[in-house]
Amino acid sequence: MPYTREVWTLASRVKGELTEEHFKIKEEEMRDLCKGEIVCRALYISVDPITRLHIAYSEPGQPILGRQIARVVESKNPDYPKGKLLIGSMGWSSYSTVDPTLTQVLGGHEVPLVETLPRQLENASMPKSAALGLLGVPGLTAYIGLTEVCKARPGETIVISSAAGQMGHLVGQIAKEIGLRVIGYTGSSEKASWIKTELGFDWAFNYKTQDVAQTLKIAAPEGVDIFWDAVGGSLSTNIINNMAIFGRIILVGNLASYGNLTSPSKLSMLDLAITLKEISITGVNVYRYYHLWDSARQALLQLFKEEKIKGYEHVVEGFEALPSSFIDQLDGVSQGKVIVRV
Ligand SMILES: NC(=O)c1ccc[n+]([C@@H]2O[C@H](COP(=O)([O-])OP(=O)(O)OC[C@H]3O[C@@H](n4cnc5c(N)ncnc54)[C@H](OP(=O)(O)O)[C@@H]3O)[C@@H](O)[C@H]2O)c1
Repeated sequence: MPYTREVWTLASRVKGELTEEHFKIKEEEMRDLCKGEIVCRALYISVDPITRLHIAYSEPGQPILGRQIARVVESKNPDYPKGKLLIGSMGWSSYSTVDPTLTQVLGGHEVPLVETLPRQLENASMPKSAALGLLGVPGLTAYIGLTEVCKARPGETIVISSAAGQMGHLVGQIAKEIGLRVIGYTGSSEKASWIKTELGFDWAFNYKTQDVAQTLKIAAPEGVDIFWDAVGGSLSTNIINNMAIFGRIILVGNLASYGNLTSPSKLSMLDLAITLKEISITGVNVYRYYHLWDSARQALLQLFKEEKIKGYEHVVEGFEALPSSFIDQLDGVSQGKVIVRV
């Protein structure tokens, strides 16, 4: 059966502030399926700040990238029958034609374009959308980053930036469970209160209204052992200047620069602090650890079952709500994992 699909595309180049006018829906007639292909219908579309970086490099008319959970609605591939649920990078699109045998190389691993939902979702009291959050890239990066990359140890002090975000709110809960002292920085007093009172962070501050150096004097008088840096820019500079000797910085992203490629944020005036305190800096690309995803999901599921962590989802209804949800996320309006239900 021929389908008409809707795809969110970039309407015009972004100069200055990103607005809903920069997005446009394109309607397309889908072609007939070839042997081996499937048609999927989007159910949940993941909203992620990295899309801002893709947009900065996109030309008008190009589709907006992103991950989604979808249901197979037509199939010419017996391994992917009608009704099967899949997760993959189909973008902000209502329907997609996919050859499920195709792969892409990410972090040195050959990763399928579409995959079945994690087995951990079977019989778990979690929504399917958890495949994009707690059991998806945010949860996996949080768990693998803490346990494999920075080898967090009980008694250490961790500072998390974008601490109420999709990944940040999980990093803090897992770090608490490992036995760390957890300090979060976020962009509103409401979100700071949420991560402290509901998620159990030891300290939480609003970096927009509170002085970072002053707050760290109180919350981390011995210095910061691990800095989970999702943001970059001046917030990072202030935190790095308050690290302990042999501190470790884990660079997961650079939110402050995604919309500002002309003057990307830089580490400034830090060389001496890094040298004298012998601080190490490491990046993390969660796909490099693709071989650990299943065991990490098992560990996350166990923590969830024991009620030691919860994945908070901010679910918005309707395909047309994608641009506004995305802009709200960048503006810090939402908290936890942002998902649009289609
Ligand atoms: N390395 C990897 O494998 C990997 C995997 C996934 C994601 N990432 C990266 O990890 C970081 C966190 O990703 P996420 O998906 O969890 O997103 P997120 O933290 O939920 O991002 C949205 C939040 O970022 C904060 N923010 C936005 N612009 C900011 C700015 N200019 N300065 C400071 N904060 C800003 C806002 O929170 P506030 O109100 O608190 O400022 C906003 O709510 C991103 O950099 C992402 O690209 C890395």
